[in-house]
Amino acid sequence: MAQGKLFAVSDQHVAHEENRRITESLRPESDEDWLVVAGDVGEKFEDVGWALELLAGRFAKVVWAPGNHELWTHPRDPAALRGVERYEALVGMCRALGVLTPEDPYPVWPGPGGPVTVAPLFVLYDYSFLAPGARTKEESLRMAHDSGIVCTDEYLLHPDPFPSRDAWCRARVALTEQRLAAVDPEHRTVLVNHYPLVREPTRILRHPEFAQWCGTELTADWHTRFRAEAVVYGHLHIPRSTRHDGVRFEEVSIGYPRERRSRPPRGPLHQILPHPVRGAAA
Ligand SMILES: [Fe+2]
Ligand SMILES: [Fe+2]
Repeated sequence: MAQGKLFAVSDQHVAHEENRRITESLRPESDEDWLVVAGDVGEKFEDVGWALELLAGRFAKVVWAPGNHELWTHPRDPAALRGVERYEALVGMCRALGVLTPEDPYPVWPGPGGPVTVAPLFVLYDYSFLAPGARTKEESLRMAHDSGIVCTDEYLLHPDPFPSRDAWCRARVALTEQRLAAVDPEHRTVLVNHYPLVREPTRILRHPEFAQWCGTELTADWHTRFRAEAVVYGHLHIPRSTRHDGVRFEEVSIGYPRERRSRPPRGPLHQILPHPVRGAAA
């Protein structure tokens, strides 16, 4: 069996100089190590390409799932594509770099802890993680606007040609569910998604209204249904390990420089496979 480790990282946000340097420091421990990148590499096409090319040149395999920031049509990005066209252009860029995306056959990790199917997912969010007290998406959004906690996606993440971000999410969920159902039933999986698949990790958000931009109830049982050995996510910028229904969930975000200053230091790469020995986890 091959050796090596499967590492994960997310939310590099490389527009920040300090984060760019952290990304430049990411190196494998051996020639057989893989890296999963769970979204929010950056906003501009050029930045995302820079980071993924660098990492693809170092790790045996790089697997990417998009974050909301890659999908922004940023006013300062010469690449002005929107919605599905933007996503497809990102997938095209990844393919040119040899980076695997949610549109490619899921790779199988052959190393220690394997064989495990590594599935990068793109399922977005549908506002179903309602703000406290809200009964509908509309109420939830109104409460967010009233409290001033509104995700920038509302202005920069366009769903074209879908009528809404939640419609795009539902289409992605249906498509992804079929792909996951077709995975070899003998294989366990590592599910890689920018959002946490279950709502629980969002319960500690400082602003609970923000949860509506953090996932969908439609994926609530995917970690058990699709035999997850681990779920890797980012987006919340609260790096930690939790368990839900006995399944390991790893938030692997680097986050913004100011967020790191208020936290105990933690290495930028997180070992997913083989399962790090308890107490010695990266
Ligand atoms: Fe992020
Ligand atoms: Fe994000």
